[in-house]
Amino acid sequence: MDTMNTYITTPIFYVNAQPHLGHAFTTIVADTYCRYRRLCGDEVILQTGTDEHGDKIVQAAQGAGVSPREYVDRISAMFRQTWPLLEIEPDNFIRTTDPVHIKTVQAILQRVYEQGDIYFSEYSGLYCRGCERFLTEKELVDGKCPDHQQAPEAITEQNYFFRMSKYQQWLIDHINSHPEFITPERYRNEVLSFLREPLEDLCISRPTSRLTWGIPLPFDDRFVTYVWFDALINYLTGIGYPDGENFSRNWAVAEHIIAKDILKPHAIYWPTMLCCLGLAPFRKLHVHGYWNVGETKMSKSLGNVVRPAEMVEAFGADTVRYFLLREMSFGLDSGYSADALLMRQNSDLANDLGNLFSRSLTMVAKFAASRVPAAGTPTEIDRELRDAAVAMIDTYRREMDSFAFNRALAAVWEVISRANKYIVENAPWDLAKDTDKRERLDTVFYYLLETLRLITLTIEPVMPATAVKMRRALGLDAQADLTTQAVWGLLAPQGIITLPEALFPRLDTGKKKKTEPATAAQNTTKIMTAAENPEDENLISFDDFKKIDLRVAEVVAAEKIKKSDRLLKLTVKAPEERTIVAGIAEFYQPEQVVGKQVLIVANLKPTKLMGVASHGMVLAVKDQGSLSLSAVSSQVTPGSKVS
Ligand code: MSP
Repeated sequence: MDTMNTYITTPIFYVNAQPHLGHAFTTIVADTYCRYRRLCGDEVILQTGTDEHGDKIVQAAQGAGVSPREYVDRISAMFRQTWPLLEIEPDNFIRTTDPVHIKTVQAILQRVYEQGDIYFSEYSGLYCRGCERFLTEKELVDGKCPDHQQAPEAITEQNYFFRMSKYQQWLIDHINSHPEFITPERYRNEVLSFLREPLEDLCISRPTSRLTWGIPLPFDDRFVTYVWFDALINYLTGIGYPDGENFSRNWAVAEHIIAKDILKPHAIYWPTMLCCLGLAPFRKLHVHGYWNVGETKMSKSLGNVVRPAEMVEAFGADTVRYFLLREMSFGLDSGYSADALLMRQNSDLANDLGNLFSRSLTMVAKFAASRVPAAGTPTEIDRELRDAAVAMIDTYRREMDSFAFNRALAAVWEVISRANKYIVENAPWDLAKDTDKRERLDTVFYYLLETLRLITLTIEPVMPATAVKMRRALGLDAQADLTTQAVWGLLAPQGIITLPEALFPRLDTGKKKKTEPATAAQNTTKIMTAAENPEDENLISFDDFKKIDLRVAEVVAAEKIKKSDRLLKLTVKAPEERTIVAGIAEFYQPEQVVGKQVLIVANLKPTKLMGVASHGMVLAVKDQGSLSLSAVSSQVTPGSKVS
């Protein structure tokens, strides 16, 4: 049976990298789920934090030229500061360098040691520095760690081991008797299949000769604790283990959210550690897939990350949250693209939801003096809208409960489309012309407003700021509550409606805005806006823009063109080799441009310049008599699209 409180966690993130979209996604999921449970009346604690010990951190600190301490403080603060930008409000932010965490980890180690579940032995194995763990032969793909694309090192050393194997059968039984323990099911199956082989004991120490940045073993100071043994315990220390009311109230209702990269530590190491401590296992493990760019996982080591702060700056937190939750099917991988984000912003948010809301409220302001009218007798078409809105709440709850955020949102957007259609079918502007149709008009308005009220409830966990604006405009109290407010007909007649500011504002295409500097993303938004505003003839539509094939090209050779002072013949890779004649010879010597990555228009009709055929155009900026070639801020694959 569901208890009335829930304890939700994200992984604690390594501080060897700054926060990126992958970290943001898990944390947005956790925050959304937390808000959703609160909306259902639960008491919820949301915990996130940073994982600060281990090899990787020391290496990163060395790379940055600072001490590990200074380094972890700096990056941990970046994580902490990123979450509010995304409207994520953790109740607890834990760091593995917190003194209380260190004390608890040591107390646990001591206890497990005394209990006889930790022993000393020699071990030879294949160690992956990226994973910070020994890998089995089976896990390797072509001799390499599939996550880090590196061959592991063969290491032999003396170490301490946790008797994980002792708990194997207990774990199998627990997973079998608790179908919801690991979801989605594919990950549960993956874990069960892994457990079909005998489980090895877990090496839980590192000699201080190799690593000092860790928690010393309380019973042998020649060793520090293995990062995973240290890190997983954060879930206990964060709520005050071993004593305290917070711990006893919340441990049994813990739900961990992670991506599939850290399934094994969470689904195998962690429950066995808990069992050895005599603690109940966590309640649920929710496992999602990767955000990929192209075919590869977005990750710092691959250098293909998207920064959440930049996304928020360009689109706003609500749009980013909506996009990520709508686009990914929880459990499967998803590809990130800025185009898809723009599409969602323009189509789902500005067009569907934004329009429905502003059209409806504007009409109520204009034709009903900004008051919620009382509904008359409903007709078939009204009942249909009402039934769809009520059914939406059920579907929404079911899908949110099972972490199918994309399907929950799809159900809401179906009703948004239906409501937009309802406006067209009922043409309130025509009804308003005829005083005999007053009752019909009032009914249509009431049904629209009531549908909007239910929609507002559902989007609250996903887009909290938008929901607040919508609630205010509809004259509702600040506190949304799904348990009492999700029934049809609660909007009180005579309530006052206030015209909202645009929910998803479009950039003003007027002259003032045009002169303001804008980020690349804002520029794109401007273009999109123009597409919807045909009156402005100076602007091109997004479709027009998309016709231009902009790419990054790498100059592999350059030479002067005889008899021309202005032209250089460039051979570029984009990704195929092609010749482009560029009018840059007065400003660049051939040898200065070789190796540069520049932006080109790749689909210009070929033309001949001084007898040389040019296949494209290099973009450059002229400024006060000098010329500067366009460039990208970091090296990319030649031929990459610019969008
Ligand atoms: N410190 C460990 C976790 C210890 S938890 C007791 C760790 N840290 S991490 O910084 O590498 O974070 C991994 C997590 O970040 C993933 O499980 C996921 O939550 C998130 N993601 C990182 N990259 C991601 C994607 N490309 N896509 C989706 N999630 C990603 O592992």
